[in-house]
Amino acid sequence: MENTVTVTDNRTGEQYTFPVTHDTIRAMDLRKIKVAPDDFGMMSYDPAFMNTASCESKITYIDGDKGILRYRGYDIADLAEHCTFPQVAYLVIHGELPDPEQETEWLAALRIHMGIFENIKKFMEGFRYDAHPMGMLVSTLAALSTFYPDAKDVRNSEVQMHCIRRIIGKIPIIAAYGYRHSKGLDYISPEPKLGYAENFMHMLWDRSPLEHLKHPVLARALDVLFILHIDHEQNCSTNAMRAVGSSEADPFLSIAGAAAALAGPLHGGANEEVLKMLDKIGSQENIPEFIRGVKEGKHKLMGFGHRVYKNYDPRARIIKRTAEEVFEVTGRNKKIDLAMELERIALTDDYFVSRKLYPNVDFYSGIIYEAMGLEPQMFTVLFAIPRAVGWLAQWQELINDPAQKIARPRQIYTGYEQRKLPDSYTYGAPSEESLAYTR
Ligand code: SDX
Repeated sequence: MENTVTVTDNRTGEQYTFPVTHDTIRAMDLRKIKVAPDDFGMMSYDPAFMNTASCESKITYIDGDKGILRYRGYDIADLAEHCTFPQVAYLVIHGELPDPEQETEWLAALRIHMGIFENIKKFMEGFRYDAHPMGMLVSTLAALSTFYPDAKDVRNSEVQMHCIRRIIGKIPIIAAYGYRHSKGLDYISPEPKLGYAENFMHMLWDRSPLEHLKHPVLARALDVLFILHIDHEQNCSTNAMRAVGSSEADPFLSIAGAAAALAGPLHGGANEEVLKMLDKIGSQENIPEFIRGVKEGKHKLMGFGHRVYKNYDPRARIIKRTAEEVFEVTGRNKKIDLAMELERIALTDDYFVSRKLYPNVDFYSGIIYEAMGLEPQMFTVLFAIPRAVGWLAQWQELINDPAQKIARPRQIYTGYEQRKLPDSYTYGAPSEESLAYTR
């Protein structure tokens, strides 16, 4: 069997045969299809890239129909159960799990970068007290670019790894400082001898009277949640990371663009929207009316649906299990019962079943964060911290991929043909009265 497809252009009767690799054809091959020899040639039209592969990648594999998610070949459930976030971060960045010596060096390298310039603290002081933490995170990540001009040497592999370690080390600090700023509290310096998730909790809540906040079960739950959020192949924010990175903008500017994309309510901002939705529903007896509103298109069932998963998001299943462990320490967040009833109804209702709408990673995560004492505005920041690892791995893969170049899609122009300016537009020397102000 030949690995090709043959298409017939019925406008000319011409036949074209294209090679098939990885079950795809190269979009540039379509340009051979022309009516007249000097035509530009055919393009594909794919708004929102519903059916377009933008790259080859070795980082994450998803099978949306089977609900499979693997980082570098390892199943997400195995990684979440048996590894720590720094170990999985090493795996996603380097391609292999670290041996004990590599892990020690990796942890030491991240610790070295767990600090930010005093200027950055002053920069963050400039935000209003009620600034959204995602706005602070996006802006501060971009601002870091001004402190590390060496980062512009993006094709230097040592610079790449230096920036990767810097950002992974610093993003939890910026996130925690943003949280403390929004509470009107002083900053708590990182405690490098703590684990990555524990250190983040320390910077959020140390000296808090709520002893449970430093409970090891919560730190492990956060570690697991961080693992689940590390990467998800070519999602919206990763696409933004690759697009900005393709212009050779430095990784600080590129990751600011990625974080900005994540903030959208249809993407990483959904975990905050889920809590608002549950608060709006309020009680189980209000669920039928809310579901009716979804079917009438008045609002979405936030935390449900996915571009790729047409089955249960494997991360949602693990998060649901983790929630029970957290509630053992914090007390049960009643919203979990509301969420589970919403899920039960949605999974039996043909509107959702026919559209293959299942809970995604954002449906249960916010309920855990709230039980841990975090406000909804911080939820997307908690998504961004681990996703920085995925964004950076994808960025490095892009920069080092010889098949990649600056991203610049084409368009189908459907605007006006050429037209003449109305005679009333005859720009000449400035009129006397318009010059009056200059005298
Ligand atoms: C993330 O891509 C990733 O990998 C993302 C992510 C990652 O790790 O990076 O997994 C993280 O972003 C998870 C998604 C979080 N977002 C939400 O929970 C917001 C609610 N979900 C939807 O907005 C939606 O499901 C998307 C954005 C997630 C996916 O949108 P698609 O693939 O463009 O699907 P669609 O909008 O074309 O929907 C198909 C149908 C439509 O109905 P019809 O027009 O055919 O009648 O399903 C309906 C939609 O109206 N639909 C929903 C719905 N999601 C889709 N209806 C009600 N509630 C929803 N949540």
